[in-house]
Amino acid sequence: MEKLALLGGTPVRNTGYPQWPVFDERDVEAVVAVVQSGNWGGFPYPGPQTAEFIRRFLALQGGAYGVAMMNGTVTMEVACRAAGIGWGDEVIVPAYTFQATAAAPMAAGALPVVVDIDPDTYCIDPQAIEAAITDRTRAIIPVHLGAQMADMDALRDIAARHNLIVIEDCAHAHGARWRGQGAGTLGHFGSFSLQSSKILTAGEGGILICKTQELADRAASIIDCGRPHDAAEQMYTMGTNYRMAELQAALANVAIERFPQQAQEREAMVAYMDESLSEIPGVRMLKCDLRHTARSFYRYIFAIDPDIFGLTHEIVCRALRAEGIPADEGYPPLHQYELFQPHLSRLPVPSAYAERLRFRPGQFPVSERAATREAVWLNENVFRAGRQGVDDVIAALQKVYANREALAAYWR
Ligand SMILES: Cc1ncc(COP(=O)(O)O)c(C=O)c1O
Repeated sequence: MEKLALLGGTPVRNTGYPQWPVFDERDVEAVVAVVQSGNWGGFPYPGPQTAEFIRRFLALQGGAYGVAMMNGTVTMEVACRAAGIGWGDEVIVPAYTFQATAAAPMAAGALPVVVDIDPDTYCIDPQAIEAAITDRTRAIIPVHLGAQMADMDALRDIAARHNLIVIEDCAHAHGARWRGQGAGTLGHFGSFSLQSSKILTAGEGGILICKTQELADRAASIIDCGRPHDAAEQMYTMGTNYRMAELQAALANVAIERFPQQAQEREAMVAYMDESLSEIPGVRMLKCDLRHTARSFYRYIFAIDPDIFGLTHEIVCRALRAEGIPADEGYPPLHQYELFQPHLSRLPVPSAYAERLRFRPGQFPVSERAATREAVWLNENVFRAGRQGVDDVIAALQKVYANREALAAYWR
């Protein structure tokens, strides 16, 4: 049996995986052109680069109205505010996501109500949403996590029955489609991040797809210091400055040219990964829903069964990284983020607000299991390294499995 790299053996892969972000002279030229234009920032909104990025992004993703912003957190805050959601309102979010999904409605003044996820997809569980709805619920923020999409048929049905706004958190879902329709165009809003790790990146940045012209006008006003953006120039808002800068938009315009080719490259390798991984004992694949007609691969997530491995995901990921594989355990569950602890809130305690944030261990069992025991996240670049890139993941995981007893002893 080959010795694990973590225990002093030779790593399966010592060449690394392709770098991210990808760049070349085109990026340099685009930035230089903006610098020389003197029009670096986001005022007046939208600048020419920003307007062009919005056009290109809608052509890629679908949807008719886009508003480009500073990042993929303020996009969700602005969506809440554009929909009139704020103080006293509740917004339902999944327990397994990045903190931004819950921090954004909080920034708008609303209470994020956390619910559990579906074990088959790791996305928000529609039944848990139904159970959490109160007369203060105004919106749901499903997160299309990793390479999965939330069940948008069920969500749209719930939203229609309860008159709720749907804000899709698509930070991981550029290019994804549900029944042929772009992620982010199925709800009232689709929020996308262009932060440096994302598969479409400008270093920082975000774009919000809006269902109607009116919502888009309001969102544009909110991010542009409250100036009106409607045709009649009448709609003023309590705005702030969340505009996308021209320098950022210039990078985004180059990145989006590369996106289709990169997406194709990943897609071609993912089928091979699905097939190869499913043969490893103790690996549970997430569901491939047939309604999810185009997948995008920011992170590829699978679950390990700690009872079969005798190890939790933390040590499996550590061993994989030592073998040269970019794997990690993903997010902690939302209720373990310090941000959401009531003692950090300045609200008088006990208050209804703090009470709703007083989470119990075991309250979201599926999210907790995923986040603390079983989820393994592979980086997008694993799928840009040809068949060898996938073969190395499989070889490394087989090696970890074969050495599971030695690893368990080492961990103790
Ligand atoms: C699921 C999710 N939502 C929202 C965000 C926030 O995006 P940004 O970093 O652009 O604010 C991120 C990532 O950063 C994310 O992964």
